[in-house]
Amino acid sequence: TIMPFILCGGAGSRLWPLSDALRPKPFLSLPSGRTMLAETALRLEAGGRTDMGFLPVTAIGSERHGALLRTHLPDAALILEPVARDSAPAVALAALSALPHALVLILPADHHIARPERFLEAIASGAKAAADGRIVVFGITPDHPATGYGYIRACEAGAVRKVEAFVEKPDLATARDYLASGEYFWNAGIFLFRADVMLGELEREAPSVLSAAREALAGAKTDTVIGARIVARSAFAAAPAISIDYAVMEKTPLASLVPVDMGWSDVGDYAALKALSEPDANGNTVDGPAVLHGVTGSYVRSEGPVIAVKGVDGLAIAATREAVIVTRLDEAAGIKPLVSAAQSVS
Ligand code: GDD
Ligand code: MG
Repeated sequence: TIMPFILCGGAGSRLWPLSDALRPKPFLSLPSGRTMLAETALRLEAGGRTDMGFLPVTAIGSERHGALLRTHLPDAALILEPVARDSAPAVALAALSALPHALVLILPADHHIARPERFLEAIASGAKAAADGRIVVFGITPDHPATGYGYIRACEAGAVRKVEAFVEKPDLATARDYLASGEYFWNAGIFLFRADVMLGELEREAPSVLSAAREALAGAKTDTVIGARIVARSAFAAAPAISIDYAVMEKTPLASLVPVDMGWSDVGDYAALKALSEPDANGNTVDGPAVLHGVTGSYVRSEGPVIAVKGVDGLAIAATREAVIVTRLDEAAGIKPLVSAAQSVS
């Protein structure tokens, strides 16, 4: 049996103003009409039907999103964090809540997967290695020198490969070298392992993460209104803020990789969001009330105001009731400084 845990406590600003601290990326709706969070849970239901033996899902996220999480995931168990400490403490909470010999499946909630059946096949091929004590990661073939991902080099060919190197978020020059070498995969951010194996690695590589998570869970309180466990604030706050990639994956000798071609996108910016839907004859993607004259290759989305655009090419324009962003699509990955400047004005 596999116990799935969805991690959904991250922030993320490259899709502002559609997503922000109050409504981060996992709560953003996709062309399917569903949120990434709901799609993540749905993908597993398909697995349940194909007999993968998934136990009910647990979501681990921020206390401030508790009610929102309950709305989006009516049936999930919820573990809520009063303060954000990045993904390593959240993975520790998952491993500590699982049965010792159960397989834990860590799922990020900020992805789109176009071919979910491939995702399920990859989980199935990694399950034996995980049961044998490996920490299984899933590798995407890179197509550009992205600096926001983990890069993984694995030896030999085959469905499950021993990991030789895991490098989280390399700089641009290194990412270019890795891409050119053809030897690296991107880390999809999905992990499959036995709970006791991950606890052992956390104990060795990040003992302060593990002890804080253990104490926070021991002191957890139940919120009966939304049906969630809220971990103890001061104990959890004592954990260092570090991602599982830096805390364990770069260091562990136990990693194995399953390559998977599943139409993966982390929907990291407006260009990636645009790429999820088929554009119209002018290359535009329009979502919400908008009028376009002489516009090509653009993404226009409104959650309220009517947007009228004339004579431009290759722009992303996105509006909520509170804010609007306009950027060239080919610069959409670099809007973080702009967004923080804008947030300090509003
Ligand atoms: N519960 C909880 N608490 N979840 C968190 C927290 C936290 O404090 N911080 C982040 N998460 C969740 C996010 O919501 C997301 O679903 C997942 O953990 C990954 O965190 P991100 O912050 O989105 O990580 P990243 O995108 O920079 O990098 C990771 O994902 C890449 C693929 O998208 C790494 O695993 C990379 O190696 C990987 O390539
Ligand atoms: Mg991410």
